[in-house]
Amino acid sequence: MRHLLDIDGLERDEIVGILDTADSMQEVLRRDIPKVPALQGKTVVSLFYEDSTRTRLSFETAAKRLSADTMTFTAGSSSVKKGESLLDTVRTIEAMGIDAMVVRHSAAGAPHRIAGWIDAAVVNAGDGRHGHPTQALLDAFTLRARRGDVTGARIGIVGDVRNSRVARSGITCWSKLGADLTLIGPPTLMPERLDDWPVHVNHDLDDALPELDVVYVLRVQQERIGRALLPSLREYYARWGLTEERAGRLKPDALVMHPGPMIRGDEIATGVVDGPRSLVREQVANGVAVRMAVLFDLLGAGGVF
Ligand code: NCD
Repeated sequence: MRHLLDIDGLERDEIVGILDTADSMQEVLRRDIPKVPALQGKTVVSLFYEDSTRTRLSFETAAKRLSADTMTFTAGSSSVKKGESLLDTVRTIEAMGIDAMVVRHSAAGAPHRIAGWIDAAVVNAGDGRHGHPTQALLDAFTLRARRGDVTGARIGIVGDVRNSRVARSGITCWSKLGADLTLIGPPTLMPERLDDWPVHVNHDLDDALPELDVVYVLRVQQERIGRALLPSLREYYARWGLTEERAGRLKPDALVMHPGPMIRGDEIATGVVDGPRSLVREQVANGVAVRMAVLFDLLGAGGVF
């Protein structure tokens, strides 16, 4: 792998390979000293033009666990404020000598453009509404770790699919691994054209619930939604919120996932987030192992760790 820009660019076997490497990284993370010298001498920079808590810290932790040096760039406190372009910013950082650039940007395709400008490996950490491949990989890893297999899992993706890069990458990844996917939510928050998507659609959460093995809840991305498209949040929660009562109607072993940030009470109840079905903390913890696997694949030169 030269860059990780999209799940589309990965064959099923490559996805499984990354998840297998992440299993080994998980083993490293359980050691007394959870650190290996695999990427000593390499430099990983995170270039974040959009806000982030989990993704940025997770990549930086992953790089440090592999002994890479890390640098962080956040647009809000940089010369972008003075008008410096993306191209000049990226070239400036590259001139300092870097091996990988982890990019989050509000414009779909920004990481792809950057990959054309620099020699370093580029990892897409979220571009607009388009993609978020490492989130998809860590979600697949988390479900595989819990169930043993993703194939055949009936996954309901609930909420603001239209604006969700997590859903787009997730759908591609889950479907390559053989899951059965249903998009659930108000028609206004569904993508406009779904013809060639490998999914079912059901606008009625209560109808879909009893069949699901996994409920994957999305945040209502108010910053990306036109006002006209969203009923009031109260109305949204009443029909599509994962309440405790609804969670009680799931199959006994059904699981609940959420990529974060969660807005408790907007799309999911506190009791469900903190309840026994929830994989939310595991998703975050596994994110480090999966991002270690991705960085190692890109920069590790096939070595051992
Ligand atoms: C999401 C994102 O930024 O794409 N969060 C994440 O990276 N885990 C989803 C969101 O903002 O709702």
